[in-house]
Amino acid sequence: MPLKAVILIGGPQKGECRGAAGGQGLGPAPLTALPAGTRFRPLSFEVPKPLFPVAGVPMVQHHIEACARVPGMKEILLLGFYQPHEALSRFLVAAQQEFRIPIRYLQEYAALGTAGGIYHFRDQILSGGAEAFFVLNADVCSEFPLQEMLEFGQQHGDAHGFVILGTTANRTQALNYGCIVANADTQEVQHYVEKPSTFVSEVINCGVYLFTPAIFQHIGEVFQRQQQELALEESSNGWQRAEVIRLEQDVFTALAGRGKLYVYKTDGFWSQIKSAGSAIYASRLYLNQYSKTHPERLAQNKPGGPVIRGNVYIHPTASIDSTAVLGPNVSIGEGVTVGAGVRVRESIVLHGAALHDHTCVLNTIVGWDSTIGRWARVEGTPSDPNPNDPYAKIDSESLFRDGRLTPSITILGCSVTIPAEVVILNSIVLPHKELSRSCKNQIIL
Ligand code: GTP
Repeated sequence: MPLKAVILIGGPQKGECRGAAGGQGLGPAPLTALPAGTRFRPLSFEVPKPLFPVAGVPMVQHHIEACARVPGMKEILLLGFYQPHEALSRFLVAAQQEFRIPIRYLQEYAALGTAGGIYHFRDQILSGGAEAFFVLNADVCSEFPLQEMLEFGQQHGDAHGFVILGTTANRTQALNYGCIVANADTQEVQHYVEKPSTFVSEVINCGVYLFTPAIFQHIGEVFQRQQQELALEESSNGWQRAEVIRLEQDVFTALAGRGKLYVYKTDGFWSQIKSAGSAIYASRLYLNQYSKTHPERLAQNKPGGPVIRGNVYIHPTASIDSTAVLGPNVSIGEGVTVGAGVRVRESIVLHGAALHDHTCVLNTIVGWDSTIGRWARVEGTPSDPNPNDPYAKIDSESLFRDGRLTPSITILGCSVTIPAEVVILNSIVLPHKELSRSCKNQIIL
């Protein structure tokens, strides 16, 4: 069956991809509320968030790999409202070569919402006779059981049903997600509520869907209704706004209980990647999966090499001293240098960074081209919830909970310089900053 896949990559967050932003000597800020839409700062200054490396490869490469594995996949479309971007174009060219499948970026003229974009580009999605297509949110990490969803879809709704990938959360966590009430026998979705204020269901929407072309009729109904309302508004106010259509609130809520929407529940790993902190958590999940899917990506203990503990990814161009100890859950990027006696655990070190002799880096993201001086200690607090909680897997959002910074991982933006022998604890350092002393629980602007 001819299939396509659409990956919703969204667009720039506030302050994203605009190059260097710091260096003005504004000094430290207290841990107070941060503006909304900045959860991935300061890392998204340098690359669009979907290209941020998770377990050694760009975040969306995990989606692309999963889609390319499905038999019958004809094309993968990345849909977003980023301006044409050099890094994105380079990534697409490389990915097409590696996965031998057409991969294109389609740019929305404005943020059209999770359903508005696919509706706008429906002709491109269906071109070539696609009989069904997947839609995947870029900001989730998962095993992406797409083949299983396909088989489930063929058995439900007379092959005309739409399938949502679901997982189970605890009662409190579920309130932050789309909640699904389904018929226990048929798995038909009877109610769908996005981020309810009181408990609805423990089954939540994973942001991965399988649709047939019939979905466009349903989005089209919402579109027509909105156009009529907009026309009325425009005539009374004299202004027009872009028509945003959301799959979750506008489409699924209306489709529930109509024999068309089904949930396929997975026990596999799943997590959102909203904040930079959750990228470390997602890295751990993907590194863990590599032992089955990509053992070649996991570093091994070798004579004359560094000590590897647990799952570690090291880019082939990185230079690691044989007395360093790395892991578990460490990703070392391109061209990184790691000196003698260095210890790194639960961290992501981005390309070009240098960890000088005897530094200790724990629960930290070290930005591109940053330098950490000898004997310095850069440390965050693990954001993991209670390990005894069976639903811990999906709670990785503690860095900016409720828009506030909570003591959590440390993030160094790009080209940050940390001098020798200082201690940086639970702090965020914006790009191009040269620190002169230790700091704790601060945002260094
Ligand atoms: P929040 O918790 O409020 O962030 O909501 P959410 O988890 O439901 O996420 P949201 O619906 O904002 O986004 C889900 C996915 O769709 C993410 O990968 C976004 O990047 C992407 N996305 C969101 N809005 C748009 C849009 O207007 N166009 C496109 N192409 N993608 C979008």
